[in-house]
Amino acid sequence: TRLFEQRKRDHIRIALDPRSQTLGQNGLDSVELIHEALPNLNFKEVDISTSFVFNKTSVSLSSPIFISSMTAGHENGHQINEALARLSDSRQILMGVGSQRRELVDTSAAEEWSRVRKQAPKARLIGNIGIAQLIKSPIDSVRRLVDSTEALGLFVHVNPLQEALQPEGTTDFKNSLEAIENLVRIIGVPVIVKEVGCGFSVETLKRLDSTGVFAVDVSGKGGTHWGRVEAYRSEEDQVLHKVGQTFANWGVSTTQAMLNAKEARVSYEVWASGGVRNGLDAAKLIALGAVKVGLAKPFLEAALKGDRALEELLQKLELELKIALFCTGSKNLAELSRGKVLS
Ligand code: FNR
Repeated sequence: TRLFEQRKRDHIRIALDPRSQTLGQNGLDSVELIHEALPNLNFKEVDISTSFVFNKTSVSLSSPIFISSMTAGHENGHQINEALARLSDSRQILMGVGSQRRELVDTSAAEEWSRVRKQAPKARLIGNIGIAQLIKSPIDSVRRLVDSTEALGLFVHVNPLQEALQPEGTTDFKNSLEAIENLVRIIGVPVIVKEVGCGFSVETLKRLDSTGVFAVDVSGKGGTHWGRVEAYRSEEDQVLHKVGQTFANWGVSTTQAMLNAKEARVSYEVWASGGVRNGLDAAKLIALGAVKVGLAKPFLEAALKGDRALEELLQKLELELKIALFCTGSKNLAELSRGKVLS
């Protein structure tokens, strides 16, 4: 438990260090939206609202922007999660909680969520578990992660590079597809598979199509990079530090991962994250086919400053997205996703 707390604290500190960012590598600089000089629109009517629809339930969302999974189950993370959840509640956006690994072994860790829920009863939370934990956990304990957060869905993070670079990493990924398929069959809420900043290949996206997942969040390269984070977590003279640096630019960029999803012709929803830093990035990804767009590090930075900074960040992101819709002549997100990008 102590080790876990320490690791989570280190992750937050190091992720904020600019050296952990693969700035300029998200591929979005080469994606161009088509400017429409005469949009037949009133800016006031441009609509970026959307919803999260599963089975017969529909949860309204003020925008496709979501808070990407970061923290859970450690003392210093509580304030961060409470602030993020308050934003999710008041502004109707989705929020992924961080890995709930600790809850699998320590049920008292779930108390964090009762505090969160007191402040944010309507937060649109999505749970989180790692693939390596999923493979070896009984399904009842996984179900408890969804129940404790009153989650709308469950993210399963797949992070082979990160696990391989952690001294205490869980590196048995055998039977991953079967575990995901089994989870989808039993859990009763949408399952969303995500990377953590290294993206997906065409082949892996195709293989996931047979599992029945609700969505894949490609979470590609271009922002927080776990090769870098894990490298800086170890001392400079350690082997893992050097190996981490070797893999400092490993992965599929967020843009390339979106193109891969198009090529794979998958039937699930495609979500995007990884190096999204403004609402124009989000607009480009939506034009490339993403239906939800997540940011991690920017929300973390703002959460550490407080509620006001979070409000301002979301306001900025949503205004930028809206302007991109207006200037491409798109009245809503569906229109932005049709033929508004040069390729
Ligand atoms: C993360 N990320 C992450 N993902 C996940 O599925 N479970 C987790 O527990 C965490 N933990 C975590 C901690 C911190 C401090 C950060 C910054 C990120 C990965 C995150 O959800 C996202 O996929 C990547 O960070 C890429 O997005 P950004 O940071 O480039 O916007």
